Amino acid sequence: MRQLILDVDTGVDDALALMLAARHPGWNLRAVTCVAGNTSLEGVVRNTLTVLEAVGATSVPVAAGAARPLLEEPRDAGHVHGGDGLADLGWVPSARKPEAIHAVELLRREILASPEPVVLVPLAPMTNIALLLRTYPEVAANIGQIVFMGGSAAVGNASPVAEFNVWHDPEAAQIVISSGLPITMYGLDVFYSVAIEAPDIELLRESDDAGCRLSGHLLTHLAKVNADDFRLTSPGSAGIGDAGAVCAVIDPEGLVTHRHRVEVSLSNPLTRGQTVVDRRTKASEATLAHGYLSRDSIDVALGVDGRRYASLFLDTIRSHDGK
Ligand code: BDR
Ligand code: CA
Repeated sequence: MRQLILDVDTGVDDALALMLAARHPGWNLRAVTCVAGNTSLEGVVRNTLTVLEAVGATSVPVAAGAARPLLEEPRDAGHVHGGDGLADLGWVPSARKPEAIHAVELLRREILASPEPVVLVPLAPMTNIALLLRTYPEVAANIGQIVFMGGSAAVGNASPVAEFNVWHDPEAAQIVISSGLPITMYGLDVFYSVAIEAPDIELLRESDDAGCRLSGHLLTHLAKVNADDFRLTSPGSAGIGDAGAVCAVIDPEGLVTHRHRVEVSLSNPLTRGQTVVDRRTKASEATLAHGYLSRDSIDVALGVDGRRYASLFLDTIRSHDGK
């Protein structure tokens, strides 16, 4: 079975991603690591364990990692994810405890022990992943691919030009993006394009299965938060956000990517955290010669089959629904 590890800041849409990954029969979710982002590290760990329990994935090891970005102070996103990071649903928290080791140690252990190269999916600020690559560079040999949610080739959300995960820890993102590993950037250019329609959300909410019900409530929250978002066309629908990046791992044919050099803006306060995507062709060689862009190229997602991924999400989540 294919081997998958998620790094999360759970987070309403991280929760959807966790449930999808845990329920997909073709992938073994080897581990989940937590980092401060949408909410505090403590909240992320609690939410992650709670979500995994809702889908019966109680044997997946979970570890706490960085409580703050490399340089910045933590800045949560309670206005999107609720005060507890999980839409303030009052869902009973899991009593399970995380592993007694740091996320970086769990990542190292599981990557090196994996029988085949791991697909690593950061859905959060990439602090843990940057620390991992700097502390244990030998893990690179058994990472098949990194598919991260973050960045944008166009507009931002945390700032006019910066996406939240990269904006939260720009130095970490730059370390990962320039690592030379095979990387796919699943950014805001596709993030909002995979949506679940209102009738399907209602069916999930009414399910007897805890995972379906939790998904339904979280999607209802997202539908309200994003009600006036220009990118969602159908009223009452909700984007699955981070879960789309997991769809891209399971079904890469649904994604259109182009190979581009990407550099994170670090020193300009106006653009800090922006992923500067060089979409030029021949002109890029000239800029490279001047030395102000690195040679790192990654696959940037610029198109997605939203209906295909919405079906993949729904079919997988509902696979345990007795109805
Ligand atoms: C990203 O930031 C968080 O709010 C979401 O969980 C997602 O990972 C979107 O910018
Ligand atoms: Ca996230």
